[in-house]
Amino acid sequence: MSRTPLVAGNWKMHGSTEMTAGLVAEIAAGAANLAGVEVLVCPPYPYLAQAVSLAGSVSVGAQDVCDQAGQGAYTGEVNGAMLKDIGCTHAIIGHSERRQFYGDSNELVAAKFIATQAAGLVPVLCIGEMLEERESGNTENVLAAQLDAVVQAAGIEAFADAVVAYEPVWAIGTGKTASPEQAQEVHAFIRGRLADKDATIAARLRILYGGSVKPGNASELFGCPDVDGGLIGGASLKSEDFLAICQAGAGA
Ligand code: 13P
Repeated sequence: MSRTPLVAGNWKMHGSTEMTAGLVAEIAAGAANLAGVEVLVCPPYPYLAQAVSLAGSVSVGAQDVCDQAGQGAYTGEVNGAMLKDIGCTHAIIGHSERRQFYGDSNELVAAKFIATQAAGLVPVLCIGEMLEERESGNTENVLAAQLDAVVQAAGIEAFADAVVAYEPVWAIGTGKTASPEQAQEVHAFIRGRLADKDATIAARLRILYGGSVKPGNASELFGCPDVDGGLIGGASLKSEDFLAICQAGAGA
């Protein structure tokens, strides 16, 4: 089963109009020369429309989305239809920083996943364990609970048009990356759990790795059989580094 790798940049809360102009133009120019990899950038909300206008063949996604599909009295929220309207194609859902700091429970993440697809966007569903969960041998239980909440709410069919990102919380922004063996073991677990429900959908699903991916470790990680690209934080803020990681995706 061949899956085209996806390399996605999550800018988190970094950006300005000036930075967006430079970074997206450079990434778009570099990505135009790459075959065999899809590239996605996810700037903060205020810069999405600007990014879309500069992105060329690069896709643009949001870092979150409201769980409510329709318009209404939800002050401060942005729904999927608005993101679609301005040209976004993806939304990151359930990032560990949302789960940790903004109360995104498994149930809320599942609702956001459904709302994202209802708007015609592809959800990038993030799951991952904390260090103490890994150390106490609970990695698979945590990941299963995060995944199952979405499968139960949305149905396995919904994963035919979704992306999953495995982001061990202990590897995010820490410079500690999961070893290729650790990443492969977890990715195979995720795919296997979904394959129990639908083997074809699981075989086609792209599962990205995120957590301190850099130009120096990307090829090794992306070379794992169940790793289909990456979700990149810090290194997505420098076009040279991000494009080197995209290049590793193209070569995987
Ligand atoms: P870093 O690449 O900075 O570790 O961040 C990973 C991440 O959280 C991407 O969503």
